[in-house]
Amino acid sequence: MQRIQPMKDNRPIGIFDSGIGGLTVAHAIHQALPNESLIYFGDTAHLPYGDKSADSIKYYSMRISQFLLQKKCKALVIACNTASAMAFETVKDFVGKQALVINVIDPVVAEVLSKKKLEHIGVIGTKGTIKSDIYAKKIKQGNPALHVSSLATPLLAPMIEEGFFNNKISRTVIDSYLSRPKLKKIDLLILACTHYPLIKKEIESIYHKEVDVINSAETVAMALKNQLKRKKMLADTKKPSHQFYVSDFTTSFEKTTALFFGSRIHLEEAAIWK
Ligand code: DGL
Repeated sequence: MQRIQPMKDNRPIGIFDSGIGGLTVAHAIHQALPNESLIYFGDTAHLPYGDKSADSIKYYSMRISQFLLQKKCKALVIACNTASAMAFETVKDFVGKQALVINVIDPVVAEVLSKKKLEHIGVIGTKGTIKSDIYAKKIKQGNPALHVSSLATPLLAPMIEEGFFNNKISRTVIDSYLSRPKLKKIDLLILACTHYPLIKKEIESIYHKEVDVINSAETVAMALKNQLKRKKMLADTKKPSHQFYVSDFTTSFEKTTALFFGSRIHLEEAAIWK
């Protein structure tokens, strides 16, 4: 009897972010899907997205998606929370059937809604993500009884990027945000920013482990894995190859990759705006 071969798709997965913080998501995807080739794009020319208008972020996201589609990506992961909040629908419409498009918000919302005994959820992220109120809207659509408190924490991303975490300064800054009254009585905190997995342990210790802290990078990697599996689009590459692009190269960005990816990686410039 002839065996039916499972379908496979060895095209790369495209991942994009405003900069190099999205390497936390790329790293989680690499851990969950070691046979997949990755193409990462960090828009360092326009960093940070947290303060940009929705129109600018939609425009940047479409152009980056076009770049990744030209590289024949089978799936695009919007690793940036701000871009996920503001440009997901635009990117989905733009990409159409050419590739699967995943944002970092829906998988986290699904995880939160699957948890029992929750009452009060906290969300921290950039000004753009928090202003969009997207987590509260999506969570309340799924369960109107849940209470969601969101707080913009704009100092955290640059602080982490400069290597300030697990020290006195980061502890003071994190503490001053988390001690705001609106985040006092939460049962779960969503880390709605690419950079925050690096301060997850500090946050957990501030809450004495009494608050469930969600690391969206891992949640998104698992959601991507499940979707690719369901659609029979997993790769079986034995030696996957990865490419990491930025729109504006500096050696400082390249050095900082080690913080977010766990090891230093080589960045290539794809000057799509020059
Ligand atoms: N990548 C952004 C996010 O996750 C944080 C950095 C920025 O503001 O561009 O929202």
